[in-house]
Amino acid sequence: MRRMLLALAALLVVPLLILAHPARADDPKDMEPPRPANGLALTPPMGWNTWNKFACEINEDVIRKAADALVSSGMAGAGYKYVVIDDCWHGARDAHGDMQPDPVRFPSGLKALGDYIHSKGLKFGIYSDAGKMTCGKRPGSLGHEYQDAAQYAAWGVDYLKYDWCYTGTLDAKAAYTLMSDALRASGRDIVFSMCEWGTAKPWLWAQTVGNLWRSTGDIYDGWQGKKDYSLGIMDILDLEADLYPYAGPGHWNDPDMLEVGNGGMTETEYRSHFSLWALLAAPLIAGNDLTSMSPATRAILTNAEVIAVDQDPLGAQGRRVAKQGELEVWARPLANGDRAVILLNRGAAPAKITVNWTDLGYPAKLPAKVRDLWLAKDQGTSKGGYTAEVAPHGVVMVTVRPAV
Ligand code: GAL
Repeated sequence: MRRMLLALAALLVVPLLILAHPARADDPKDMEPPRPANGLALTPPMGWNTWNKFACEINEDVIRKAADALVSSGMAGAGYKYVVIDDCWHGARDAHGDMQPDPVRFPSGLKALGDYIHSKGLKFGIYSDAGKMTCGKRPGSLGHEYQDAAQYAAWGVDYLKYDWCYTGTLDAKAAYTLMSDALRASGRDIVFSMCEWGTAKPWLWAQTVGNLWRSTGDIYDGWQGKKDYSLGIMDILDLEADLYPYAGPGHWNDPDMLEVGNGGMTETEYRSHFSLWALLAAPLIAGNDLTSMSPATRAILTNAEVIAVDQDPLGAQGRRVAKQGELEVWARPLANGDRAVILLNRGAAPAKITVNWTDLGYPAKLPAKVRDLWLAKDQGTSKGGYTAEVAPHGVVMVTVRPAV
């Protein structure tokens, strides 16, 4: 009887013990095989995407004209290379399950469009979704991942943005890894842009899965505040603030595409938007109508010194190093030892903001040269720090270089 009770107890207790001690992740036999990065996007991708301006109102003419304007405006020369067709290019799958573009909007087909984009020295990007449908209710790639990746490669695609609508109970890591592998198997170098909105914290697991991952909901063309699922640029900035350790060459946090030139913010606010995205080592994907760009918009988007901060080869994402109410200092180290610094005034009145050298990891007594990147002007050598007056919703962006 005693033996039977002991056996019964063991039967009950052993499974509980097993449950309480699941296999350890650091047990070599349970570890995932090492996964190399795909070697692409060693600096944040730069380009243009249809969505922010045109949403679903796209066709091959819109894309061709954007490619033309990217070159003629000097944007391509400034580094913008990817022309990305976002949602709504899709028609239906054919009898073999191969995805076809909408025949009315893209009568020449996507191979021809890709050839046109390549003939201008640019790169071709496209959009799909890990679920049954895209957010615009076009066919998604679920169950067709390898087939779609091969199709994109045949069209000459260089960049895939992969969305997360209609994914039900899919596991994000598994779904994105599946498409990442399918892209690699396609035999073409395709930058993988994950658009999962940060829900499953991709910064923790996607370093060798994707080249960039959205870390927030959608941007809208405004300074601050939430509108349903969309966020103003200050809200996005706050969500990015703690993610700096996870970005680096080949794997970037993506605070969403640029709204510069779309009309919802002032020129000062657009300059702040662009400066902050550069400090965050964000992908610089313009989202305005390139064919009717104002000189002011063009000047913002093509500021070579600000772009150089974004594209710095060290790939260190900037972070907030000081904050006093609505006045903030953001900084990032650059490959040559300089620091890029933004003095940000979130308030409604002009204000003086100071960056202290000690906030940059420099000794207070270090003499350092300051250059203002929007004035394109050297501001002399200072010790201890640098102070500037900053317009409401504005930035002053400088580089600081030790002068010894
Ligand atoms: C959203 C995505 C946007 C855009 C849109 C298209 O999920 O965040 O950037 O791609 O879908 O429907």
